Amino acid sequence: MSFSIPALLAQHQSEKFDLHEKHLNNQMVKVLKTIGYDRTYQRAVGQYLYDQDGIEYLDLLSGFGVFAVGRNHPVVIKALQDTLTQELPNLVQMDVSLLSGLLAKKILQTVPDNLNRMFFCNSGSEAVEAAIKFARYATKRPQILYCEHSFHGLTLGSLSLNGEKIFREGFGALLPDCEAVPFNNLEALENALRSKNVAAFILEPIQGKGVNVPDDNYLPEVEQLCRKYGTLFVADEIQTGIGRTGKFWAIDHWNVKPDMILMAKALSGGFVPVGGVAMTEKIMDSVFNRMDRAVVHGSTFSKNNMAMAAGLATLQVIADEKLTENSAEKGKSIIDGINAMVSKYEFLKEARGKGLMIAVEFHAPQSLSLKAAWTMLEAANKGLFCQMVTIPLFKEHHILSQVAGHGMNVVKMLPPLNLTDKDCQKILTAFDQAIAETHKVPGSIWNLGKTLAGHALKK
Ligand SMILES: Cc1ncc(COP(=O)(O)O)c(C=O)c1O
Repeated sequence: MSFSIPALLAQHQSEKFDLHEKHLNNQMVKVLKTIGYDRTYQRAVGQYLYDQDGIEYLDLLSGFGVFAVGRNHPVVIKALQDTLTQELPNLVQMDVSLLSGLLAKKILQTVPDNLNRMFFCNSGSEAVEAAIKFARYATKRPQILYCEHSFHGLTLGSLSLNGEKIFREGFGALLPDCEAVPFNNLEALENALRSKNVAAFILEPIQGKGVNVPDDNYLPEVEQLCRKYGTLFVADEIQTGIGRTGKFWAIDHWNVKPDMILMAKALSGGFVPVGGVAMTEKIMDSVFNRMDRAVVHGSTFSKNNMAMAAGLATLQVIADEKLTENSAEKGKSIIDGINAMVSKYEFLKEARGKGLMIAVEFHAPQSLSLKAAWTMLEAANKGLFCQMVTIPLFKEHHILSQVAGHGMNVVKMLPPLNLTDKDCQKILTAFDQAIAETHKVPGSIWNLGKTLAGHALKK
């Protein structure tokens, strides 16, 4: 029998949710059905998804930031097709591949000039794991510092640097010697560094959970303090990197020079798992310091041809289509547009972010009638208010978005970087209408709120 993916998809089209209920994480299916996100998408192009009825959805999640160049970008597809049809000698292992060499060279042209070596892996978490191991080995120190409310991944090592309790609870002992400091707090950082036991301070230049942007002096002073105490300064740019924040790297907003930059997500255009660490020669040479240690850290699929080819194509697209510049421009227009609504809406606190990494935060209102409604939702489940914005955005306006983290009243936008002016206008109009609805108490949207609160309380 011949094997055909299109035939398989057509034949089993209607079984998607059943299969997941039976064989995968059925809680995810429950979530999707409860909030009405249970659609059958059939096609995806650029910043849009299309369901079985041909309805177009504007995607503000971009697969958690992997589709910076948009979904199914033809240049990346062509690179992957070429790679497959060339019968290339992939993963020879007792060899070094040309594509990984070319991608390393290209990435290193974008980072500060103190970084001149690349390590490749298969995901963001693997990049974090590598940074932890390399920092410990290179400095001969045990401790790793990270920030409260940070997110660095969910493998045991990266989870040890995770600032949210919900991700860690019940999973047992994590790495020893990992300590959290408050984000954007230099005094706490210096206190923690003073012991000279800290191998690395690993942080997101802009925190993904909640989109927290530091003060302008923070990262430059982090760099100074790390140098002063001999600690490696590691920028986790897994989410913020590759054009996302309107500069190629988020650290470029503050002109700092970390000892390592971690990357993943957008690097391969969303097609192939990939991760990487740009680092100083000193760190790389201290870990791989003898021939018998040439394979002391790595993984089987790292540097695979598909990921490397997709990476090369993606970087070309980012440059050719000026996506970093577009991210800066479109992000500013969205943030300014939402902030212009603050005076109209009591629930709306602010929009913030850089480029197309944007938070829209809500807070408790002043007027008594609205306050009672807000308090009811907060008591059921902190952060539930945002669902009353994201659900209508999806159902009425066909915009896919998400709450920025557990227990926070922040809606996050992380769209593809090729947004157009028309998309931005659609986003502003939709937010305006969805937020206006939340101010009608009682009203249909608050009926939804009560239903969601009921689900939360039952849970
Ligand atoms: C800043 C940051 N670091 C690390 C990770 C983990 O990456 P991955 O999910 O590819 O393991 C993420 C994922 O969202 C992230 O945003």
